[in-house]
Amino acid sequence: MTRLLELRRVNAGYGEFKVLHDVSLYVDKGEIVAVVGPNGAGKTTLLRTIMGYTTLYSGSVVFKSVDISGKRVHERVALGLTMVPEGRGIFPNLTVEENLLAGAYLERDKSKVRERLELVYSIFPRLKERRGQLAGSLSGGEAQMLALGRGLMTSPMLLLVDEMSLGLAPKVVLALFDLVVKLNKEYGLTMLVVEQHVKNALEISSRGYVLENGRVVLEGDGRSLLSNEMLKKAYLIY
Ligand SMILES: Nc1ncnc2c1ncn2[C@@H]1O[C@H](COP(=O)(O)OP(=O)(O)O)[C@@H](O)[C@H]1O
Ligand SMILES: [Mg+2]
Repeated sequence: MTRLLELRRVNAGYGEFKVLHDVSLYVDKGEIVAVVGPNGAGKTTLLRTIMGYTTLYSGSVVFKSVDISGKRVHERVALGLTMVPEGRGIFPNLTVEENLLAGAYLERDKSKVRERLELVYSIFPRLKERRGQLAGSLSGGEAQMLALGRGLMTSPMLLLVDEMSLGLAPKVVLALFDLVVKLNKEYGLTMLVVEQHVKNALEISSRGYVLENGRVVLEGDGRSLLSNEMLKKAYLIY
């Protein structure tokens, strides 16, 4: 197993406000790893810290064996890190295709951009059908597909996905989780997914971390976490 990402005793937050306390975690190449926890636990802050959007007080973020703690966001993207933000962050007044192309803003080689676009369209045929449609007119599930597709436009080695299933109907959520598995299995994409759908997330993950009040309180392989009594009670898994 190759270690792709490692956080070592990370303390981070916003200005004076510390959110993450001594968070250590890792993601190996080829894994889907889940981070679950209640609202306000610091899950989004964790992903933002990996991307470089927060203040890092101490500890380090290591990606592909390089300490990237001091690197700027765009440098991290260029190295292979991409985040699909909570709330999807798509541009409603741009078309589906314009949104996808916006995801490849760092790539100057037009033929590469074209190639990636075709790859995204082959993974999400629905986006191809709707390529000329305004993103604001997509359904919730389609909008999330677009957010994922745009993330893929940077050719990430590790995709960070924040609360993909937020506000979506259970059937749509299941379809999205199937897509995540497909991206992992068929395209070899490594993913760190933050989720409130604890059961779904742990079922598709090799390992998981439970975050509470900015600390990792529990970690283990997906199966053992799913059968953990404390977790079952806290998140009503049955
Ligand atoms: N931009 C920000 N500035 C200051 N505090 C923030 C900011 N974003 C989030 N927080 C605070 O950080 C804590 C963790 O939030 P967040 O990482 O969004 O949790 P989660 O994603 O698990 O719901 C909360 O107390 C929240 O109020
Ligand atoms: Mg969040």
